[in-house]
Amino acid sequence: VAVRRLDYAPPAFLIDEVQLEFDLAPTKTTVTNTMRIRRAPGAAGAAARDLVLHGDDLDLVSIAIDGRPWTAYTANDDGLTVSALPSDAFTLKLVNTNRPAANTSLSGLYVSNRNFFTQCEAEGFRRITYFLDRPDVMTTYTVTLRAARDDYPVLLANGNLVETGELPDGRHFAKWHDPFVKPSYLFALVAGKLAAREKRIRIRSGEEKLLQVWVEPHDLPKTEYAMDSLVHSIEWDEERFGLPLDLERFMIVAVSDFNMGAMENKGLNIFNTKYVLADAQTATDFDFAGIEAVVGHEYFHNWTGNRVTCRDWFQLSLKEGLTVFRDQEFSADMAAKGLSPEAAAAARAARRIDDVRGLRQNQFAEDAGPMAHPVRPDSYVEINNFYTMTVYEKGAEVVRMYQTLFGRDGFRKGMDLYFKRHDGHAVTCDDFRAAMADANGRDLAQFERWYSQAGTPRVAVTTRYDAAARTYDVTLSQGYGPSSAAAKATQTGPLLIPFAIGLVGADGRDLPLKLEGGTRADAPTTLVLELTETEQTFRFVDVAEAPLPSLLRDFSAPVIVHYDYTDAELTFLFAHDRDAFNRWEAGQRLATRALLGLTAAASRGEALTIDPAIVAAFGRVLRDESLAPAFRELALTLPSERYLSEQIDDADPAAVHAARQFLRRALANGLRDDLFAAYDQNRVEGPYAPSAIDSGHRGLKNVALNYLADLDDPSDTAALARAQYDTADNMTDRSAALAALLQIGKPHATAALDDFYRRFEHDALALDKWFAMQAVRRGAPGERVLDDVRALMAHPAFSLKNPNRARSLIFQFCMGNAAQFHAADGSGYAFWADQVLALDAMNPQVASRLARALERWRKFTPGLRDAMRAALERVAAGVQSKDVREVVEKALA
Ligand code: ARG
Ligand code: ZN
Repeated sequence: VAVRRLDYAPPAFLIDEVQLEFDLAPTKTTVTNTMRIRRAPGAAGAAARDLVLHGDDLDLVSIAIDGRPWTAYTANDDGLTVSALPSDAFTLKLVNTNRPAANTSLSGLYVSNRNFFTQCEAEGFRRITYFLDRPDVMTTYTVTLRAARDDYPVLLANGNLVETGELPDGRHFAKWHDPFVKPSYLFALVAGKLAAREKRIRIRSGEEKLLQVWVEPHDLPKTEYAMDSLVHSIEWDEERFGLPLDLERFMIVAVSDFNMGAMENKGLNIFNTKYVLADAQTATDFDFAGIEAVVGHEYFHNWTGNRVTCRDWFQLSLKEGLTVFRDQEFSADMAAKGLSPEAAAAARAARRIDDVRGLRQNQFAEDAGPMAHPVRPDSYVEINNFYTMTVYEKGAEVVRMYQTLFGRDGFRKGMDLYFKRHDGHAVTCDDFRAAMADANGRDLAQFERWYSQAGTPRVAVTTRYDAAARTYDVTLSQGYGPSSAAAKATQTGPLLIPFAIGLVGADGRDLPLKLEGGTRADAPTTLVLELTETEQTFRFVDVAEAPLPSLLRDFSAPVIVHYDYTDAELTFLFAHDRDAFNRWEAGQRLATRALLGLTAAASRGEALTIDPAIVAAFGRVLRDESLAPAFRELALTLPSERYLSEQIDDADPAAVHAARQFLRRALANGLRDDLFAAYDQNRVEGPYAPSAIDSGHRGLKNVALNYLADLDDPSDTAALARAQYDTADNMTDRSAALAALLQIGKPHATAALDDFYRRFEHDALALDKWFAMQAVRRGAPGERVLDDVRALMAHPAFSLKNPNRARSLIFQFCMGNAAQFHAADGSGYAFWADQVLALDAMNPQVASRLARALERWRKFTPGLRDAMRAALERVAAGVQSKDVREVVEKALA
């Protein structure tokens, strides 16, 4: 059954404080839960009569009110209903047990590598004990952990440590108190054999704080970067937003079995090892960047999520969209730190391009499919299915638009007002918007539609230059493309779209911009137009020449822009646009257009040809040393097969693959010498550092190597890749070399693959890469990579139970190897159905993510479509969890 946003009712009962005592044991943990409860002011009627607590997979041992055993209760699958309550406040003491070792869902209290961990967001706390497990019930927690000292020497919970001591029978205890009110989803505990890297810092107020990164003892050397990232995050939030660390200590704990990236539990963040552990040998530049971003993200949640939290789960983007925006800004500032203004701008642009590429490839697809939902959804069956690209990444774009409209200072004013009004409360997306509006003296009623409408808006642009009048008219009109009925129902009216624009002159320079009737004294080169109507014309005056428009600069709104550029115009912008994002964008448009043409030709069985001007345009950017290497790497990266398939009806992944490979080969052969030169010029000397500059050089060098693997004669490349593999002193270069060898052909990679395995046999995260690289391998003509994937599932190091391992092999194959996954015989889909059903029985959250691999089945050619539907129907018939059921039923509806 679906939960609906408009059915929200405030809680009838409040919990003034809670004391939790845990007697930890893997097979059976006992929880003693003592809550001080009262009715909410104004609560009346049926809702205020009985107390209905959530509970999931628990065994109740005893129940007492104000010290007296209580018999007026019923317990069922969903929880516990307590009746005949006192009329005033009372103390409810419950004892229950749960089974951590048997908990394969990794939600609630579970065991990983013999240590205890929790994951409570969104509704995992009810799997630990009975509670009002909803984010608008906030209270203070005192938590006592008791466990065998030898097996569990470290006992951690939220907040500050108040007491530790010994107990009989080799047991010991630790008592923690969190002084800040919080909802249950932010509760956490950890117990086991762990060691910490520690650091003491002083924040601006002068207070000293203790920072800890807890891992298994042998992993301590790999925690330096995570600790540095935490220190940078704390400094950045004080500097940019005036938000200090509020607890005496801040802890990060790494766990190797984890459903997602990380979790912002108050003062005790729990992380997937993937986002904590790194050193030069085992982690790539990409991994280091991920650690910085996720450490930042979870830390920033301390204010945007914890101090101010969500009233209900429909408001999830209130904290996630805002916190993703904050982590993006943090990463951009970190990349730009210490660089010259031009280099800093290039570093920021590279981050922006990366973020937008992810949004367009994944969120736009989500928004066009059966799971489409607004940033603030209206209903869900399983909330865990709504931790989506739309809530996170589109939500971040919505937050970014406030900053685009009001500037950094205006945005900061809005943030300050938001905390002034709502600190310590559970609030809504409307409250955030109201703070932004009030702090900036603006009516933002129309802006609400960004939260309520599903689907990706489109802006069509037409232009007209009047040489005699020296005016340039830009007409913008907005609407949506084809949408599902559910999405269409949300599309109620035009949006307020901040549309940044520049006008590029014939010499490649920006023209000064003056709007007719405008009041600005200066004539900037980029202006943010505010599109509020379905169609609007903006007239620029004193325009000396017919310009080329540079549209939606820096991707100022999450929309699709339609404008009839010629290839020559795109080539010009690709060479000259002063806005780095749009310069990249021009190259992507050029490539996309060529690739869609090639795809159509491939499906018709025609011979493929490419305009040499396209190859030349990419060559110019490759050779342009005034451009940052990171930018050139991005510019040379073609749109993914997944993204291209999204642009076509009746998509044929084999044709898309053939087209993209053809263009890659054309670029490789056509730019052979330039690619070898770029390879040589971008070698990084000296010890490895994951800095923006060094990783930019490595990225360009390795993208060059990757192209060179597609040469008609790749023998020189094979030697180069082999040498790079053997001499690499870091994982970025070693894994890029192995990927290039795999691309030349599996026989070229056998020795390196074996070496990689032996080298990293005991390093789980590195071994994940070994599985992943084989799963995304292209395969020789006629070869079935799926056969390798199946064989790898039988490898002793493979386990479906570990989400990282399952993702590295199965998800990578199903979601990262389009051409092989969509094999014409339907073998990929049958494999997918088997794995979804196997995962469904042990871990519904992970299963449900994999289930989404087929949600765009209607886009594909009829033959594939039928095979996909059959696989979906098989899953629908055998599914147990509501997580997977919601996904496949929406896909089939
Ligand atoms: N709040 C966490 C984060 O954004 C993610 C929690 C995801 N939870 C879930 N059930 N999918 O960092
Ligand atoms: Zn988050």
